[in-house]
Amino acid sequence: MRTTWTFHSAGTLCFGQNAVAQLGEIARRLAAQRVLIVTDQILVRAGLLEKLCVPLRDAGIAFDVFDGGAPEPSIALAEECVSYARRSPPQALIGLGGGSNMDLAKIVATVLAHGGDCRSYLGDDQIPGPVLPLICVPTTAGTGSEVSASSVLTDTERQMKVGVLSNFLRPAAAVVDPLLTLSCPPKVTADSGIDALTHAIEAYTAVDNEVFPLPPGERSAYQGRNPFGDMVAEKAIRLIAANLRQAVADGTNLAAREAMALGATLGGMAFSNVGVAAVHALEYPIGGAVHCSHGAGNGCLLPYVMRFNLPARVPHFARIAGFLGEDTAGLSELDAANLGIAAVEQLKQDIGIPARLRDLHVTPEQLPVFAEKAFAVKRIMRVNPRAATVTELEEILRSAW
Ligand SMILES: NC(=O)c1ccc[n+]([C@@H]2O[C@H](COP(=O)([O-])OP(=O)(O)OC[C@H]3O[C@@H](n4cnc5c(N)ncnc54)[C@H](O)[C@@H]3O)[C@@H](O)[C@H]2O)c1
Ligand SMILES: [Zn+2]
Repeated sequence: MRTTWTFHSAGTLCFGQNAVAQLGEIARRLAAQRVLIVTDQILVRAGLLEKLCVPLRDAGIAFDVFDGGAPEPSIALAEECVSYARRSPPQALIGLGGGSNMDLAKIVATVLAHGGDCRSYLGDDQIPGPVLPLICVPTTAGTGSEVSASSVLTDTERQMKVGVLSNFLRPAAAVVDPLLTLSCPPKVTADSGIDALTHAIEAYTAVDNEVFPLPPGERSAYQGRNPFGDMVAEKAIRLIAANLRQAVADGTNLAAREAMALGATLGGMAFSNVGVAAVHALEYPIGGAVHCSHGAGNGCLLPYVMRFNLPARVPHFARIAGFLGEDTAGLSELDAANLGIAAVEQLKQDIGIPARLRDLHVTPEQLPVFAEKAFAVKRIMRVNPRAATVTELEEILRSAW
């Protein structure tokens, strides 16, 4: 039985409008004279790279730029980024972008520090020591990668999203500037926003820390539900529920963008200590096969997995209904819990997340394989509050199809 829990995050969190102005100072504190910025061409064209270059130049910090990032990056792309970085080795990395670019920066920081290739570190706790200092600057309000212990890549051969999970992947600094999310298009805003909600809900309803089923001798950044995780997850759910629709409908709504940025970072703090569960495990093979965005896949699955988990988590879902803004006065706990699930369904619909897996071009023939592959992702499945067999995972997928 586990009776203690710990809480980890980025070393420093710098949050707020124009937070990027402090980037030079932050890099200087990390003793980095030469840094590599990992980003993509969409963000360069949106003028976001330039917002980082100015404070770095002012601080006299030399930098290279890898602008070949792409959504849901493949292992091959990560290796390409490693090769690029090795030509002029940096002392620190800056990940500028959504989860995709931040995760690329994280895996490159790992390979530069410890050698080998990206595949050497896949799975739970496979990184032997500190990686190069990382500064993560999110441009979506979603993944929480700026504070998290993971880097997620796409294994194109196995048609599977794969992850590196290690507390050594926590960035030295997270610079969360809501102004950088203003140019986020509605679909990216919706997909990444519901990913953040999924992180918070999966953390809030995860298996309890006291009974977290970690096999003897294994270590994990995930530890199950605990009071600190609950606290940040609750706040994340409240912020996201009250602001995601507004951010999708009007991307220039700065108050909504700022609340979403905070909600997503808090969601990252929650899930990266507590864990994510069956929604994420099921999304890994789906995203790997049909190449939907991580957020669209998670958002699509979320209410179906909640329904499966309901018997194990009635009081938690009842409280979540309240966090989502539903009036639960006078309802039984079970009715309130069901209202929580219905509220997630409504939010999905309002922001244009696909209702069913068929809308993501999943075919019924794929479902058994997806269930097998999801079941095998033990580091995530053991976080789920209700143990699921392969058959049950397939049933969840059928209900969602
Ligand atoms: N490491 C973690 O803890 C973690 C957690 C959840 C998800 N992920 C991973 O993160 C990835 C998804 O990240 P994401 O949802 O942030 O999206 P993303 O990084 O894939 O970005 C999606 C698209 O939006 C564009 N974009 C991003 N910000 C923009 C902005 N401000 N203006 C204009 N365009 C912008 C990007 O250029 C890209 O083309 C997936 O690979 C997922 O598996 C990682
Ligand atoms: Zn996620």
